[in-house]
Amino acid sequence: MVLDLSGAADEVVKRYALDQLPLDRRTRTSADLLRLDGKLALVTGGGGDGLGAAICERLAEQGADIAVLDVSETAAATTVTSLAERWNLRAEQLLADVADREQVGTAVDGLLERKGRIDILVNNAGGSGSIGLDGGKPKQHGPFDQMEIEDLLTVVRVNLVGLLMVTRLVLPHMLARGSGRIINVASEGGKTAIPDLSVYNACKAGVIGFTRSLAADVGSRGVTVAGVCPGIMVSDRTLRSLSDPAGRGFTSLDTAFSRVTLGRCTVVDEVAGVIAFLASEAGSFVHGTSVSLGGGMAD
Ligand SMILES: NC(=O)c1ccc[n+]([C@@H]2O[C@H](COP(=O)([O-])OP(=O)(O)OC[C@H]3O[C@@H](n4cnc5c(N)ncnc54)[C@H](O)[C@@H]3O)[C@@H](O)[C@H]2O)c1
Repeated sequence: MVLDLSGAADEVVKRYALDQLPLDRRTRTSADLLRLDGKLALVTGGGGDGLGAAICERLAEQGADIAVLDVSETAAATTVTSLAERWNLRAEQLLADVADREQVGTAVDGLLERKGRIDILVNNAGGSGSIGLDGGKPKQHGPFDQMEIEDLLTVVRVNLVGLLMVTRLVLPHMLARGSGRIINVASEGGKTAIPDLSVYNACKAGVIGFTRSLAADVGSRGVTVAGVCPGIMVSDRTLRSLSDPAGRGFTSLDTAFSRVTLGRCTVVDEVAGVIAFLASEAGSFVHGTSVSLGGGMAD
């Protein structure tokens, strides 16, 4: 039975915002609630073959128009080509470093000029795929006291400053329209101690805190914010780096894996599916929290 508010006093309806309840939910199918037709999603770090690309694929499957923002032209083009072949979608390709105010500003302004809207922002760029100002990847694993200062700054720049920067430049547009969905990719490392990853984990804890506080700032103005905390996602790149012990600390991985009560790692598609759910009306009440997707790692 559909909830009937006609018997509720006006004061009660107003005080508890009952007029904003999605009363049509019961009559709609789950498949319909997952649809994103007519929505434009901007995905940072959306290029290549990692989580970002998997997010673009899922959002496109659910009907969204996609803008792939990446610092690597080749990586962005790979995703754009795949979206065209698989979903017959002409996705936008935006070249920008997430932590560069001018580049992000130009990319966002251009997108808004061409498309007129950004409904969904997925802040994904970061992690082992981070690329710094010099075009190189920082070494983010290792004891904190031995970490190169330049690497430390790059990890913070891409994983935290970049996420804040893109959000800062997209948010005014969402607030002006009174609607928008922001999904931040954090990590289980932001919720639990993993050795040899202190700077990266500090950034991810920052992302979790930002998600919580930004949600409190903007929720009543129509913009909802949620986060996800992936655990260990296994990709071709992970397999390659595992074969090169000098490139990745086994200690961190062993510690992390020992906490995974589910007893297995995950793949990018498993995480991307949850993000696409959160981006849709089906996940609309998830706000301020960062969902653990570590198979029990941080719970
Ligand atoms: N891989 C994991 O096991 C794991 C675990 C927990 C969380 N995460 C998080 O998931 C997200 C995706 O990680 P991933 O390893 O799948 O990477 P990915 O392959 O999805 O992302 C890397 C992409 O981001 C782009 N990129 C890198 N630096 C950039 C910059 N400065 N500006 C714009 N684009 C940039 C790269 O070119 C690449 O295409 C990250 O936020 C990461 O911290 C990953």
